[in-house]
Order: sequence, then C-alpha cells, then structure tokens
Amino acid sequence: MAAGLGTRMKSELPKVLHRIAGRPMLHWVVGAARAAGAERVVAILGHKSEVVKASLDASFGANHVEVALQPEQRGTGHAVQCALPAIEKESDDRIVVILTGDAPLLASERIAELVAACAKSPAGMALLSTVPPRPMPYGRLVRDEHGTLAKIVEHADASAEVRRIADTNAGFYAIRLGHLRRDLAALRADNAKGELYLTDLVAHAHARGGATAIDAPFTEVAGINDRVDLAGVEVEARRRINEAWMRAGVTMVDPSATYIDADVGPIGKDVWLAPNVALRGKTTIADHVRIDLGSVVVDTSVAESAYLKPYSVLGEATIGPRTEIGPFTHCRPGTRIDDGARLGNFVETKKAHLMAGAKANHLAYLGDASIGAKANIGAGTITCNYDGVSKHKTTIEAGAFIGSDSQLVAPVTVGRDAYVGSGTTVTKDVPRGALALSRTMQINKDGWADRMREAQAKRKKNEGGGGDH
Ligand code: UD1
Ligand code: MG
Repeated sequence: MAAGLGTRMKSELPKVLHRIAGRPMLHWVVGAARAAGAERVVAILGHKSEVVKASLDASFGANHVEVALQPEQRGTGHAVQCALPAIEKESDDRIVVILTGDAPLLASERIAELVAACAKSPAGMALLSTVPPRPMPYGRLVRDEHGTLAKIVEHADASAEVRRIADTNAGFYAIRLGHLRRDLAALRADNAKGELYLTDLVAHAHARGGATAIDAPFTEVAGINDRVDLAGVEVEARRRINEAWMRAGVTMVDPSATYIDADVGPIGKDVWLAPNVALRGKTTIADHVRIDLGSVVVDTSVAESAYLKPYSVLGEATIGPRTEIGPFTHCRPGTRIDDGARLGNFVETKKAHLMAGAKANHLAYLGDASIGAKANIGAGTITCNYDGVSKHKTTIEAGAFIGSDSQLVAPVTVGRDAYVGSGTTVTKDVPRGALALSRTMQINKDGWADRMREAQAKRKKNEGGGGDH
C-alpha cells in the first residue's frame, strides 16, 4: 500500500520515495517482499503514481513491480479492494501478503514468518503486532475473554480504556485470498475517519477462530509519517548496515558517524573507514582499502589497498589498486586511476585516465586527458579542454614530465618521455623526448631593486614621513 498522500511529510515528493540510506522507502518494502519469495508484487499507487512507478521501474526493471491504481485514498481497505482486479486470476487458497509502503525496515524473514503463521492459522490470517516505546496513534489489538484476537480498534475510534492496550497493529498482514475477497466486500466506512479500514478484517477472522498475531520489535516495523520518523528510521537503518559490514570484516572508527548507503557493496576485508566517510550509490570497495576522514565516495569502485586520504570527493570513478588519492582531491565522472598512481591535494580530474605510477601531486585540473604510465604532472598544470563550444582531448604519453604551472591547450599530445618546461602554454604537439618551452626569456637588471627602494624612501621623506597606510 503506497497510495497515501503523506501530508505530514510536507513534501512535493511522494512520501514513499523519501530515501532511507539512499534507497526510497518503498523500494525497501518491495525488496523485502521479493527476498521473502513473493511471486508477484503489486504496488497500490495513487498520489503521484507516475513518479512512483517510474522510480520502481528504474530500480527493479520495467513493469517488474505491477501497479494497481487507487485514484482516491479512501482508506487501507479500499486500497486493497483496488488491487483485487490485478490478482483476480489467482485461486482462493493463495496467501496474499499486505505490506505498508511507509515502513521500510521490515525484514524478509519476518514476511516468511507471517506467511507460515497464516498457512497454519485456521482463520487463514496472520498479522504483525508491536509494542511501541512511546504512545503512537496505532490501531489497538483487542482480545476476547479467551485471549483470542477479536478486533482492531483504530486510534481515532478508541476509548481511553482501549488506548491503554499496549499491543498495537504494525500494519503487515498475510491472508488467504478467498477470505480477503469475501471480507473486503463487507467493509463499511462507519468510523471516525469515514474510511474503509483494512483492519476490520480482523473481526471477520475472529468468527473463524481468530487471526494470529506475531510480535515484532518496534524498530523493525516503525512506520514513517513525518520527517522526525524518517530521521529515526534512517539512524536504525544505518546502524544495521554498519553492523553487518563490521561483522563482515570492515573497521569503523566511529560507526555512528559512518554513512554507507543500502546499495553499496561489496566491501572487502580489512577495509578501514574513518569518521564522516560517506559511501553512496553503487560504490564497491576491495580488500585493505583505507578511507580517511570526511571522504565522500559515490558510484565509484575502489580496488585493493588504495588509500583515500582525508576529504577526497569521488564520483563515478574507477580507482586502481595501491593508489593514493587526496587529501582534498576531487575525482569527477570518468576518472580512471591505475595501479600505484597518485593524486594529491587540490587536484581535480574529469574523464582522465592516469596509467600505472603516474602522479599529479598538487593543484591541477586534468579533464578529458589520457596520462601515460609514470608521467609526472607538476603543480598548477591545467588541461584547457573546453573552448567554449566543445571538449578536446589531451594525451600525455608515458614517462612525460609536465613542469609546474603549464597549460595544455587541447587537442594536444605530449610525446613519450618529453619535457614541458615550467610555465609553458602547450599549443602544439610535443614530439617524443623533446623539450617544449613557451615562456619569454628571463632578463636580470642588476641593482634595480636597491635603486627602487632608495627612490621610495626619498619620496616618503619629502612627503613628511606619514605613517603606514
Ligand atoms: C494503519 C493501520 C493501523 C496501524 C498503522 C501502523 C488501518 C486502518 N490502520 O494506520 O491499525 O497501527 O497503520 O502504521 O489500516 N494507504 C493507501 N491508501 C489509502 C490509505 C492508506 O494506499 O487510502 C497506504 C499509505 O500510503 C500507507 C499505508 O497505506 O503506506 C498506511 O496508511 P496510513 O494512513 O499511514 O495508516 P495509519 O493511519 O498509519
Ligand atoms: Mg501510517
């Protein structure tokens, strides 16, 4: 169920697309259903359904998640009624699992438990209950004198006495399709909200011997209604993700300040992560990689034993083994750094390939560039790759040495083992083994500085020796 407006989020984005550890909350729920072995997943959408569907298609493949439309949100019972046509060909003895789209941390094992309990239940229905740590506006589980689940009373309809019941409805159900079809048809909106409550199915199940309630920890089933809930679930998701990686052999200096998105991985053994490291998107990290303080790594693969020094920012890059990056290096999309190559502080790369052992240790911009093995890029080197209309390529062949403060006006090639003198503006190809020099010759004027200072001192004296300005 993901049709609701999510009013309390105060957002233009549908609630179920707000992200938890980088992944939209609805995708967590769909992922758990699939991991639990669901043969078909139908998303009940309403509010901004096209946007939600596009997001599901992008992550799970076009139309892999089926969509049922609930044009008007008239309650959770109505939502499921809208999904019935999608499953009309399924037989009555099938078990249908109904999940809330705004509770992303439900584990697939819990769904499997729910299905197993439903299969055993004479009433053909099971649901998850939870005891919240603080009062929540959840439906209360009301039992008969034998302790059998009799009904769910929604918070809005509950008396003070009923609200004192600790057991609440978590919003996850498994039910035989035959019962679902029959009982949904009997729902009425005679309640505080004037909605069709899915929870009223529990009273019908009582007539068959009572639905089975399985208690689940609140942290696992907590629903998100506003951004305070969102932040709470984010913390819990991150705690789980980090714990799993630590158990898999990753060291985190401060797990409470380590931010790894849900889709990151694999992360290898003996990886070391300093505080305030963020790994996002489809990033992968090989064995023995060290990532120091404040580095942000997005959609990037980092090979074994690479060292990302503090405050390195990488996006869509391929970082080779035994490389050293940073501090303060910015690798933009299309960067490829081969074995043992190094990028130092204030180096920015974009679509640049540094081959094995190449170095750019300080202050450089390398864009649309191919840099051969062991080439050395001096401080202040800039590839002038953009002429205002299109981008051009710079090729620096193996072993070349680019002196500090040089500009390479692309398209241009510096040949193998060639030298570019400091301060050169390279506009023509440099042949293999040559020296390129474009700066004007130096002239020295003997005694000039001394004479200049004397003249200044004299002028000051004549002006009356006023103070410094
Ligand atoms: C629901 C339960 C409540 C339970 C709580 C747990 C009902 C009547 N109540 O209340 O017992 O304790 O969840 O979180 O079911 N939705 C639709 N279409 C609609 C209405 C809702 O698709 O017409 C979807 C929402 O997008 C959401 C889910 O159903 O994903 C739950 O709806 P919500 O309005 O949050 O129900 P609660 O009031 O929280
Ligand atoms: Mg809710």
